[in-house]
Amino acid sequence: MMKSISKTLLFALCYCFFTHFLAKSNPDSTHKGYILSCGASEDAATDADGRKWGPDAKFLTSSRDTEAATAQYQDPSLPTVVPYMTARIFKSSSTSYKFPVTPNTRHWLRLYFYPSTYNGLDPFTSYFSVVANGVTLLHNFSGAITAKAFTQGYIIREFCLTPVGSGDLNVTITPAKGSYAYVNGIELVPMPDIFQKPAIFLGFSDQYLELTSCTLQTMFRLNVGGQFIPPNKDSGLTRTWYDDFPYLFGSGIGVTSRADKNLSIQYSKSVPEVIAPVDVYSTGRTMGPSARVNANYNLTWIFQVDANFTYVVRLHFCEYEVNKINERVFDIYINNQTAQSPSDIIAWVGGQGRPIYKDFAAYVSDSPGDEEMWVQLHPTVSMKPKHLNALLNGLEIFKMNDSNMNLAGPNPVPSQMLTDAEAEAESKRFSESEARNGPLIAGGVAGGVASCALVVAIVVVVVVKKKKKTGKILSSVITNGSSHSSSTGKTFPGSQISNLAAGLCRHFSLSEIKHGTKNFDESRVIGVGGFGNVYRGTIDGGTKVAIKRSNPSSEQGVHEFQTEIEMLSKLRHRHLVSLIGFCEEGGEMILVYDYMANGTLREHLYKTNKPPLPWKQRLEICIGAARGLHYLHTGARHTIIHRDVKTTNILLDEKWVAKVSDFGLSKTGPNLEQDHVSTMVKGSFGYLDPEYFRRQQLTEKSDVYSFGVVLFEVLCARPVLDASLPKEQVSLGDYARICERKGTLHEIIDPHLKGRINPECLRKFTEIAGKCLLDHGTDRPSMGDVLWNLEFSLQLEEHPGGMLVAENKANNAYATHTATIAADEAIVNDDVDSNRSAVFSQLVDLKGR
Ligand SMILES: *[C@@H]1O[C@H](CO)[C@@H](O)[C@H](O)[C@H]1NC(C)=O
Ligand SMILES: *[C@@H]1O[C@H](CO)[C@@H](O)[C@H](O)[C@H]1NC(C)=O
Ligand SMILES: *[C@@H]1O[C@H](CO)[C@@H](O)[C@H](O)[C@H]1NC(C)=O
Ligand SMILES: *[C@@H]1O[C@H](CO)[C@@H](O)[C@H](O)[C@H]1NC(C)=O
Ligand SMILES: *[C@@H]1O[C@H](CO)[C@@H](O)[C@H](O)[C@H]1NC(C)=O
Ligand SMILES: *[C@@H]1O[C@H](CO)[C@@H](O)[C@H](O)[C@H]1NC(C)=O
Ligand SMILES: *[C@@H]1O[C@H](CO)[C@@H](O)[C@H](O)[C@H]1NC(C)=O
Repeated sequence: MMKSISKTLLFALCYCFFTHFLAKSNPDSTHKGYILSCGASEDAATDADGRKWGPDAKFLTSSRDTEAATAQYQDPSLPTVVPYMTARIFKSSSTSYKFPVTPNTRHWLRLYFYPSTYNGLDPFTSYFSVVANGVTLLHNFSGAITAKAFTQGYIIREFCLTPVGSGDLNVTITPAKGSYAYVNGIELVPMPDIFQKPAIFLGFSDQYLELTSCTLQTMFRLNVGGQFIPPNKDSGLTRTWYDDFPYLFGSGIGVTSRADKNLSIQYSKSVPEVIAPVDVYSTGRTMGPSARVNANYNLTWIFQVDANFTYVVRLHFCEYEVNKINERVFDIYINNQTAQSPSDIIAWVGGQGRPIYKDFAAYVSDSPGDEEMWVQLHPTVSMKPKHLNALLNGLEIFKMNDSNMNLAGPNPVPSQMLTDAEAEAESKRFSESEARNGPLIAGGVAGGVASCALVVAIVVVVVVKKKKKTGKILSSVITNGSSHSSSTGKTFPGSQISNLAAGLCRHFSLSEIKHGTKNFDESRVIGVGGFGNVYRGTIDGGTKVAIKRSNPSSEQGVHEFQTEIEMLSKLRHRHLVSLIGFCEEGGEMILVYDYMANGTLREHLYKTNKPPLPWKQRLEICIGAARGLHYLHTGARHTIIHRDVKTTNILLDEKWVAKVSDFGLSKTGPNLEQDHVSTMVKGSFGYLDPEYFRRQQLTEKSDVYSFGVVLFEVLCARPVLDASLPKEQVSLGDYARICERKGTLHEIIDPHLKGRINPECLRKFTEIAGKCLLDHGTDRPSMGDVLWNLEFSLQLEEHPGGMLVAENKANNAYATHTATIAADEAIVNDDVDSNRSAVFSQLVDLKGR
């Protein structure tokens, strides 16, 4: 199910500046490689990055059974028109590509696929193989199924081909019987052999595996502890490097670090710059400052791979913190086997700033459930090193051809739920449009200028698996307000709260609740939501609480109610509003929460007669909320995506501690054993991640986007949508980004704050807030990064000019927070959704917000 969802590398955007590389590293190359837009006409076409793509026709061996085509529809997620909008169609194997290449040189082959309707052909009927240089790269490949399973619009695959002795390199694209094949772009780029050293073959004592004769497929390429590196910033090989955060397992995720600016990375003959760029070696992830915590956990990354293949795991190291032998010594485990122990980077290379990489090969067997690659680090306690810690700077995983000269794995299987939900959404869309004459809004929302008064629901199916840390919306459709999932039971059975949950939080009687709210007196209403009202109340003769009563006419199902109790009673964190208890009696479903004396963050920002909050206090509130969200994203076994992050969902207790609320009116689906559930989700206009609409993809980065809007709202103290303003200013998120680009952010800051923020602090704050709003989720920081940067801003506010002091303090604050999550996890993991995906839906009435 949903196998290999995290093979996101395959979907890299690709920008290539190979000429740079050629000039440097391959002087006697006779050709510069090819960048072809398949099916394009004679003229070279330019993509969004200014790269020129030539036509492919002259490399075809004939013109039989092939034709050029143009996609019928341009998916909004396409990063660029060229090469995706044109395609080369093959109807038989009688035509292939033939490329004159430099002999004895390895080549990158990158293939670009955009499954769309070409010349009236349905992409779901297309299956084909690709053979290059005698190696099967793809077999029975369906671009449409793969794209659907990954919820992606297009697919890129990268292979590293072995040298051709002499003559041409043939690439043959063959349709399955009765089918057709297509390809949109082909890139063939010569490269130096970066696989000359044999890899240590795990599971075979002291055996080495030669890589020189192997064809490899890039599965993952990560700048561990660092940022996304686009191809034009790579060290000449036009590779794309991704952030490692999505692959980290558990909440013991360590801390990221960066080499001091004055440290230069010294490449050598055995590790030349083409191995990995400076940015990979000068950033890394370590375990964190607490020896006690480090001794008790493994820093772990998990990757989904195809079974029955051997993989090369390349680990990149460069020390920049310690400088003596036996200061940092650690074990490396790959797939639960010891790959290297002890590992002492300084002992290997002799000093700081000297990169080294290690290649390990491991076979992933085809027994069920084995389709994962685990990489783990743990301090070698027995060596008694000065610090109990570990470091990793970069990681690559390549699949090797098998003995049948094959690299092709099976097509991923889109989840059944996805298919069902699509059908459901389809029929809903149909009935809605019959009833109403056409869809509501989508376009306006994506543009951030939607009318706030519309009530909108988005029906989604979401699969959130913590291991992969990528939640996905698999299908979405916009409907109007009153729709509800059909899968939830409406009848109200007797008490069904599990004993477990009942044991974890209190059970109140209805009379206690009625007494505490003066029989649900109207004057005590402090909030109204789609589910019903929230009342201010008291229990135990005086303790203030907030009481949420499901509107009996609301269709919020009993399952949602139960799940919310089960989830919330276990998700306990200083920065989450906690559930005290519940009442399930006389047809009522009531939840009792901590009372937040200072109300919502919003009511302290604008349209209020409360005094303006000082900057430092605002920062502390943002940090608290970030901690709460970071905990949701990483603290439980499964990632929990809040989906409705906004200033009215950040509450403040009597000591002004920020608490995230409304974190999921969770709902379980019909089958708890499967990793998917159909739910309904709503978000709030002004905070909604535009990518969520464009790509129909929900990840924790959608929360990061919303949180970025919150940060600007806190800084500017204005509503996130204000229709009375000129058009470009209506949406705060859009406007803040415009101002950031123009350098005019200071003009929109809350007048109460002007001149009262330390400039270094302000710069850091706006920088991280701006990054949260980036278009692509993958470019946005993780919640952990956001948190760290906010801690850093706060320290800069307190220690102006003391960069290093501030950085250290921020590291400590961050590490303390993650250590508490790690400690919690042991408890939480035991019971929270141990056999269920955490899928949260939010049913909120958007009226008037
Ligand atoms: C490519 O195909 C041609 C025939 O079309 C063949 O002569 C040549 O040997 C092939 N090249 C390789 C490297 O297999
Ligand atoms: C870099 O500067 C720091 C102080 O900022 C110093 O402690 C360190 O030794 C310097 N490193 C090198 C390699 O010069
Ligand atoms: C490694 O061990 C963990 C439990 O300790 C297990 O869940 C996981 O499946 C193992 N991974 C592999 C690849 O064998
Ligand atoms: C770390 O991983 C190794 C290999 O999977 C395992 O043997 C060891 O028990 C783990 N250690 C901790 C503290 O989880
Ligand atoms: C596993 O791979 C080998 C080739 O290395 C192949 O012969 C075998 O059929 C594969 N097994 C399965 C179950 O696919
Ligand atoms: C990959 O193919 C080469 C021949 O090109 C072969 O020598 C090598 O053994 C194959 N790799 C594996 C892991 O079987
Ligand atoms: C091709 O792939 C499809 C979808 O994954 C699968 O249903 C079919 O059985 C495969 N056919 C062959 C011949 O492997």
